[in-house]
Amino acid sequence: MFTKEDAAILDKVLETRWTCRFFTDEVPSKEDVEEIIQAGIISPYASVASKEVVPFRHFYVFFKGDPRLPVIGEILKKQTAIDIENLKEEQKTNEYLRDNSESLLNMWKNGAEHGFPVFPDPPCLVVIAEWRGARRAERQSLAHMLQNMWLKATVMNYDFGIWSIFESLVDNQEFCDLFGLPAGRYGFHACVIGHHKGEVPAPHHATAEIHWM
Ligand SMILES: Cc1cc2nc3c(=O)[nH]c(=O)nc-3n(C[C@H](O)[C@H](O)[C@H](O)COP(=O)(O)O)c2cc1C
Repeated sequence: MFTKEDAAILDKVLETRWTCRFFTDEVPSKEDVEEIIQAGIISPYASVASKEVVPFRHFYVFFKGDPRLPVIGEILKKQTAIDIENLKEEQKTNEYLRDNSESLLNMWKNGAEHGFPVFPDPPCLVVIAEWRGARRAERQSLAHMLQNMWLKATVMNYDFGIWSIFESLVDNQEFCDLFGLPAGRYGFHACVIGHHKGEVPAPHHATAEIHWM
């Protein structure tokens, strides 16, 4: 079984994990990326739907210089413009969103106009697709995959960033066509793996409270 020293190492990895948004040009090796993806492959999945289609999850790896990366960057800009319109529509019937989505809208407007920090040329982009199934648990599964990969990348001294905008691409025909996947049937998420550029910010953990009931 595990020792206290093993647990202390895990604690250190958990505390060291952080969100990297700016990367150097250094490209990770294919072997290292494969090791990181292996951590995603073994992460949990919603088993009820898992036999409907084989394979159930896909990892698409793009390295710096791939001509499809700027194409994905442009798709993300267009999708963000659609997301803005959808949010504005939702604001009409949702008072909370009307009062509280200004900073989100500004961030998205910036993304729709100028693109996202790592695009068009991240060192390594991994797009992950998980079959949706009737259970509709693909987003949770994607989160588990990403967390496993994030921790594995951290312990391998890589930096890691996640881009939630990929979640909005479920029905995006142009994006699904890039992978030969049917639109609407796969949930997406994506991460960038590489080495950070600039300072590593001090940790800013979520505010939280434990309630011992
Ligand atoms: C569900 C989820 C979605 C996130 N989406 C993004 C994202 O789209 N872009 C980004 O830069 N960071 C994203 N993050 C990273 C968070 O902003 C980050 O985890 C948080 O600010 C805490 O910082 P840390 O990860 O450095 O500890 C996301 C995190 C989670 C859990």
